[in-house]
Amino acid sequence: MSGHVVRVNGPLVEIEGLDRVEMLELVAIGEGRLPAEVVSIDSGLVTAQAYESMSGVRTGDPAATAGYALSAWLGPDLLGGTFDGLLRPLAGRPDWLGASTLDAPNDGHVWPFVAVAKAGDQVASGALLGRIATAGPIEHRVLVPPGISGRVESIAADGDVTGESPIAVIDGRAIGVRERWPIRVPRPIGTRLASDAPLLTGQRVLDLFFPIAKGATAAVPGGFGTGKTMLLQQIVKWCDADVIVFVGCGERGNELADAMADLSELGDRTSGHSLLERTVVIANTSNMPVMAREASIYTGMTVAEYYRDMGYDAVLLADSTSRWAEALREFSSRSGELPAEEGYPAGLSSALAAFYERAGRVTTLGGGTGSVSAIGAVSPAGGDMTEPVTAHTERFVRSLWSLDRNLAYARHYPAVTWRRSFSRDVEAVGAWHGAAGRSNWNRDRARGVTVLAEADRLESVVELVGLTGLPGNERMVILAGRLLRDAVLQQNALSANDATCGAAKQSALLELVLAVYDSCLSLIAGGVPAAVIEECDLSRVARLRDELRPDDALGVAAAEREILAQLEQLA
Ligand SMILES: Nc1ncnc2c1ncn2[C@@H]1O[C@H](COP(=O)(O)OP(=O)(O)OP(=O)(O)O)[C@@H](O)[C@H]1O
Ligand SMILES: [Mg+2]
Repeated sequence: MSGHVVRVNGPLVEIEGLDRVEMLELVAIGEGRLPAEVVSIDSGLVTAQAYESMSGVRTGDPAATAGYALSAWLGPDLLGGTFDGLLRPLAGRPDWLGASTLDAPNDGHVWPFVAVAKAGDQVASGALLGRIATAGPIEHRVLVPPGISGRVESIAADGDVTGESPIAVIDGRAIGVRERWPIRVPRPIGTRLASDAPLLTGQRVLDLFFPIAKGATAAVPGGFGTGKTMLLQQIVKWCDADVIVFVGCGERGNELADAMADLSELGDRTSGHSLLERTVVIANTSNMPVMAREASIYTGMTVAEYYRDMGYDAVLLADSTSRWAEALREFSSRSGELPAEEGYPAGLSSALAAFYERAGRVTTLGGGTGSVSAIGAVSPAGGDMTEPVTAHTERFVRSLWSLDRNLAYARHYPAVTWRRSFSRDVEAVGAWHGAAGRSNWNRDRARGVTVLAEADRLESVVELVGLTGLPGNERMVILAGRLLRDAVLQQNALSANDATCGAAKQSALLELVLAVYDSCLSLIAGGVPAAVIEECDLSRVARLRDELRPDDALGVAAAEREILAQLEQLA
C-alpha cells in the first residue's frame, strides 16, 4: 500500500493515500525507506512518527505501509554488538546500517548451526530447533518462534547457515535464523514465577541492604553527577546475569564508548571470554536523533526477552529513562496532544508501567526458565524527586536505589542513601542466602539498617548537645554507623579488590562491623569510658574491603578475631 507525504513537522510526517493502515503500523518514508510508525489516523490523513531525521524528505515523496508494527530483527548477531534504537548495527558488526528495519538484514554472515530437532518431529512455539556457538560464553538457541507449531518438514543440516536460508520448514512455513518481533509487544511466556534468587550485583549496598531479585525491577534516581552511570556500569560489569542489554538513552556518547572499551578488556570471571561477548549495547546517545530514543527502551526489552526465552537470565539497564520520557514529551507536544503533568503526555505513567511490567522470571514457551531484570536510571531535573518520571517510576519498581547529593559530595560512593531506598524482595533474597548457608543474613541486615538509622538520628542530636552529651552506648551507635558506612556501604569502583564483592565477603564484612559494635557495647557495660574506645584505632576495619580479594570471606573472619582481641585489651 503506497501513499505520499503531504507535510513534515519535525519527526511527524503526514501522509495521504494510505487507506488500509493500522495504528502503530510501520511505514517506509521516501526513497530511503526511512522507518516511521503510525500514531494517528484521521479520515484520509495518516500521521507517522519518524525514527530518523526527516530532513531529506519532501512533500510528494512516497510512503509505503509495511503490513506490520515497528519491529526489530532478532538473531545470533546481537551479542557483542552495538545497535541503534531500532536494532540496526552501529559498529563492530556486519554493516547493515542504512538498511531500514523494513528489510531483513542481508549481510551474508554465516553461523555454525547444529540441529536438535529432526524432520518429522511435532514442535510447538519455544521448542529448540538447534544451537549456534557464538564467540562468547552464551550459546545461541534457535527456537520455534511464538505463534508457530506443527510438523518439522525439513531442517538444515549441521554446518553453516546464513541469515537468508531457512533453518527449518514447519507445516509449510519457513523459519529463518532471524526473527522479526514488534518491539512494543511483550514476547509470550508460559507462566510467571516468583523470584527466588537475587541478581547479585557485587555492590554491597545493593546486595546486602536493597537487593534486587532475578526478574525484578529497580530504579536509580539521582541528581546531576551523583553517580547513576557509574553504578549502572558497575552492575553491567559485575552482576551475575547471563546476558546484559545496556540501553544508552540520551546520555553522553563518549561515556558509552569508554564503558564499552572497559567491557572488552574485562574478562568474564568464569569463562575467560571478554564481558562484551555477552553484552548487547543499544545506543541512542545525546548526539543521535532524539526520535529513536523512544523506541530504544522497547527494543532493549525485546532483546532481553529474546534471551530470556532461550532460558537465560537477562538484565536490561537503561540510562536514562528520563531522557526517554523527554522524547515522549517532545512527540506529544508536536502532535498537539493535551499535556498532563509538567508537559509529559497523560500516558507517561502507563508507558512506564508497561515497560517495567515486561520484567519477570518465567517459564518459557519451551518449558525452561529464564528472567529479565530491569534497572533504569532516572535523572530528576534539579534533583526534585517529586517530578513525574521519578514519582511514577517509584510506584512500579521493586527496588529503589536513591542517590544522594550529599553523599556524592562527600565522595561516599556509590552514593545510594539508606534513607530513601527500599527493596520489596528482602525476604525472598534472605531465604536464598539462608539456603546458601548464610543463615544470619536477614538478622544482620535488619540490625545494620537499624544502626544506620539510629546513627543518623543521634548525629543530629550531637550537633545540638555535642558528643559528650550522649551516654556511652549511644556513642557506640555513632561509631558503628561510621564503620558501616566506611567498611561496608562505600565501595571503590576503581579498586581491583573492591570494585566487586562476593556474597560471602559482603556478609563477613557486615558481621565484622556488628561484632565490633557488640564488643564496644560490652566494654561500655563493663565501665570502659566511651572516649577510650573511640580513640582505639579501628581503621583496619575499613581497609579490609580494599586489601582482601573480592571473595576472601575467610580473610575477613581472621581479621575479625584480631580486631576483637585488640578491643578486649581495653577491658
Ligand atoms: N562508585 C564510584 N566510585 C568512584 N567514583 C565514582 C563512583 N560513582 C561516581 N563516581 C564519580 O562521580 C562522577 C560522576 O558520576 P556519573 O557520571 O556516574 O554521574 P551521573 O549521575 O551519571 O551524572 P549525569 O547526571 O551527568 O548523568 C564520576 O565521574 C566519578 O568521578
Ligand atoms: Mg550519567
